[in-house]
Amino acid sequence: MKLLVTGGAGFIGSAVVRHAIGAGHAVVNLDALTYAACLDNVASVADAPGYTFVQGDIRDSALLETVFAEHTPDAVMHLAAESHVDRSIDGPGAFIDTNVVGTYTLLQAARGYWEAQGRPERFRFHHISTDEVFGSLGATGQFTEDTPYDPRSPYSASKAASDHLVRAWHHTYGLPVVLSNCSNNYGPYHFPEKLVPVVILNALAGQPIPVYGKGENVRDWLYVEDHADALLTVLQRGQVGRSYNIGGENEARNIDLIAMICALMDEMVPQGAPHDRLISFVTDRPGHDLRYAIDPSRMRDELGWRPSVTLEEGLRRTLRWYLDNRAWWQALQARDGVGERLGVKA
Ligand SMILES: NC(=O)c1ccc[n+]([C@@H]2O[C@H](COP(=O)([O-])OP(=O)(O)OC[C@H]3O[C@@H](n4cnc5c(N)ncnc54)[C@H](O)[C@@H]3O)[C@@H](O)[C@H]2O)c1
Repeated sequence: MKLLVTGGAGFIGSAVVRHAIGAGHAVVNLDALTYAACLDNVASVADAPGYTFVQGDIRDSALLETVFAEHTPDAVMHLAAESHVDRSIDGPGAFIDTNVVGTYTLLQAARGYWEAQGRPERFRFHHISTDEVFGSLGATGQFTEDTPYDPRSPYSASKAASDHLVRAWHHTYGLPVVLSNCSNNYGPYHFPEKLVPVVILNALAGQPIPVYGKGENVRDWLYVEDHADALLTVLQRGQVGRSYNIGGENEARNIDLIAMICALMDEMVPQGAPHDRLISFVTDRPGHDLRYAIDPSRMRDELGWRPSVTLEEGLRRTLRWYLDNRAWWQALQARDGVGERLGVKA
């Protein structure tokens, strides 16, 4: 297949690009190269015969029209987004612009192209979203695909809006869409402002490891390489108009996740041990959702997909990768806002 991947220079998008090229697909990677992007994430496939990079913005309808006409993709995998909840608290406007207006602009361009092609049934618009659209759970329960939307941060509200637009373009115009809502990802190439790399890099530097509130917030951790595999599965075998929740089957409280990383650090970088002495509790994120958990039955029962790594194994691989790729993250640490506490102004 020929795939148009948006946001393919980001964390998850680049894993999708690497997997898709590895699986023999052709990929056009469309990315605006915001602060969160890094072309090194796709350096391993940059010279592959089926790979093309286009620097461009999903809000630029003229550019999108050209990209569709020139590259004639069989499917769109839409990952371009503003993705950091803390940044959405300080500056929600960029989240509305990219996640809502950008998705609308991309949908319109995809629809125009699909209609011009004679509305082929096999075309797919795969929208990649988050479990955060479902709001926050208490101590029990899990999100299914039928859980009502209840987004509570500017980020999750903007993603929820984009999910609604994608469903509307299917119901109103017939555009063949699939959606997926996944839990928190972690793994190689994770931008150094997100929790797992922050813990690893602060522990390595002997700096305090910030824990929001009491660290009791629970997330279901999904290894990014597993997620990329799941996304290609949804694209190829998911039912049109349907959404799929993708989880890691790895629920953990933040404080327990951080303790696991510290224990792995003690084993792999013993000179700084014990690394959990660096744990430092800080003011909580405003409106911090307590718990997200994914009911993975639809992915498992309909598509036969399950994650391949446990949290401990995934963290071990991730830590190894950060230890082996210092130049990658050292360059990104200089970017705007990285290493600062964001999202506390509300
Ligand atoms: N990271 C997670 O844990 C997680 C969990 C669930 C869902 N998601 C969703 O997965 C997708 C990818 O997340 P990520 O963590 O890889 O994000 P990321 O921030 O690492 O990457 C986003 C990419 O999109 C690009 N981009 C941003 N605005 C753009 C625009 N206007 N036009 C074109 N490109 C633009 C950026 O340059 C960047 O390369 C997002 O839609 C996000 O909502 C992420």
